[in-house]
Amino acid sequence: MASPTSPKAPAAVLTEGIRQRILDLLPRYPRKQAAVLPALHLVLEHLRCVPYAAMAEIAELLEITPAEVHDAMSFYGFFPQAPMGECRVWICRSLSCALRGGDELLEHACQKLRIEPGQTTPDGKITLEFAECLGICDFAPAALVDDGRIFGPLDEAGVDAMLDTVKQGRKPTQAQVS
Ligand code: FES
Repeated sequence: MASPTSPKAPAAVLTEGIRQRILDLLPRYPRKQAAVLPALHLVLEHLRCVPYAAMAEIAELLEITPAEVHDAMSFYGFFPQAPMGECRVWICRSLSCALRGGDELLEHACQKLRIEPGQTTPDGKITLEFAECLGICDFAPAALVDDGRIFGPLDEAGVDAMLDTVKQGRKPTQAQVS
């Protein structure tokens, strides 16, 4: 039992529900370490970010080091440590999109939202980021929202319309639609 002078343990970042969902993943994988990515996605889905404390808690659950969780996280560059906006929007700047004005459209979106790439609008609605090829070059210059919507080929008016649409909120999931 902790004595009255013992330092208080920091509060857990992951709820019991998230912890249980991570543990429920384990039988699907040959090794616990293989569940790092799905665990990161679960945490991102719940917290809209993966702070250091959550990384440590994932590591504890998977019996690996926090550095191993961080390695997976930083390799993909998909898991921010600070909370994101309600919708995350990527505008592509790779070759096919760049040749068709992707960089200029990113700049236009930044001006319209009054933020820089990687930042979130003050109302918390949109986090705007650049992306390398999104795999939708047929739609170049293209953008992707983290609820699965894709937009393109875009021009400045298309970016304005996309941002107005996205500001209205996330696309309903199948479960919500039915
Ligand atoms: S280069 Fe932009 S989607 Fe492929």
